Parts: sequence; C-alpha cells; structure tokens
Amino acid sequence: MKRLGINIDHVATLRNARGESHPDIIEIAKIVKKSGADSITVHLREDRRHIKDHDLKMLCKKNFFINLEIASNLKMMKIAIKNKPKFVCLVPEKRNEITTEGGINLKKNYRLIKKIIKKLNQNKIRTSLFIDPTINNLMLSKKIGTNCVELHTGKISRLIKNKKKYKKEFLKIQKCAIFGTKNNIEIHAGHGLDYKTAKILSKISHITEYNIGHFVIGESIKIGISKVIQKFKKTIK
Ligand code: PXP
Repeated sequence: MKRLGINIDHVATLRNARGESHPDIIEIAKIVKKSGADSITVHLREDRRHIKDHDLKMLCKKNFFINLEIASNLKMMKIAIKNKPKFVCLVPEKRNEITTEGGINLKKNYRLIKKIIKKLNQNKIRTSLFIDPTINNLMLSKKIGTNCVELHTGKISRLIKNKKKYKKEFLKIQKCAIFGTKNNIEIHAGHGLDYKTAKILSKISHITEYNIGHFVIGESIKIGISKVIQKFKKTIK
C-alpha cells in the first residue's frame, strides 16, 4: 500500500495571518487523519513562520502520525527528541526561501547529519533525508544510515506543469528509487505534487510514500469555498 502524508504548514500560515486560532491546526489534523491520510507533515522552521512549537507539542501529544521536517542542526534535533514524532525528515533550510528549494547537501554536512540520524534512530524515530534524486546522494544516504529518503520532485513537477519534456527526470527518479530500495532505503517523494504529477510518479512502484502540501490546501479551498458560502447565505437569511 502506498502511503500519503499531508503537509499542513499552510493551514498555520493562514491562521498566523490573523494571529488568532482559526483555522485550528488540531481540528484540521483530525480531518486529515479521518480522510485517510497516513501521516501529517509539519515543518518547524527556524523562523517559525508557520508551525509553532506549541503546534508540534500538541500534535505529538495527541498521537497523530507526525512527520516532522527540521533543519539539520543539534538544536532542532533536541526539539524533535523532546516531542517524539513518529518520523523526522531532515531538510535544507534557508531563511529567505519561499519553500524548500532543492535537497539537502549531504556531502557538505555529512558528519553532522550522520550524528543527528544516529541519535534519532536511537530514539526510535524513523529517519528520512530530503535529497535531490542522484545515485551519489543515495550512496551517501546509505552510509549515513537513514531509514528513508524523500526524493525532491520539484524539478519533474515543474517540467510537467510547464508541458516540457520530463522523461529524463522521470528515469532519474526511477533509477534512484530502484537503487535505494535495493539498498534497504525506503523511498518517498515530495514537493510540487498535484494530481497529474502524483499520477505520473505513481508508475514508479518503488516509491512508497508521497508527501503533499501546497496543492492539497489550495485545492481544498477551491472545492470547499462553495459549501461555506452556501452556509453563510443560510445563516444571514
Ligand atoms: N516534502 C518536503 C520535504 C517538503 O519540505 C515539502 C514542503 O516544502 C513538501 C514535501 C511538500 O511540498 P508541496 O507543498 O510543494 O506539496
């Protein structure tokens, strides 16, 4: 069975825009779970621009299957261990980026990443690394000892959306997925996915988990707005 993780960071972005409590993160997490999602992803950014420490604490306390994304530093690692999410995915993080641009640089941060992964594994947290799809990155991931990798699908998603040729990128992802699986690394995919890109990538059977955020929230507004308006019309009648 393929698993689906839903990233709810943008629910927090919307909530924070008003500085109040609506939409409520826990309420949304319950709906996400009830709707069949296998896990809930949150990225606790160092600037706390969307998910806050309190959100993470409450989500973990309420026993949701939380996939926590964090930058690879010891401070964030300690926060993860304290909250005990089921899964942790190390991601690159730049203060000024709009979203996670590209995968983590495993070569540059090798020793630190290895140390963090070891510590998280010791704490029985499933570990993952958000990487660009290259065989070299998978070989490094194997040496680091991660349980899973999440292949960055930003490039293929952009190519598909812009109606450009994507075959080469697809084959690259497929090759990495096969190589990873053979080396006992579970393969996940994420970034920029929508119905069409997810459908195309689902042809790669070695990908066992998809993590999707922005499109899910945007599409939910599109699908849900009519219902809300109708309810208001009734309310003010
Ligand atoms: N996976 C990872 C590791 C991410 O950092 C993100 C968000 O940047 C996603 C998946 C979800 O990407 P999107 O919001 O484009 O669906």
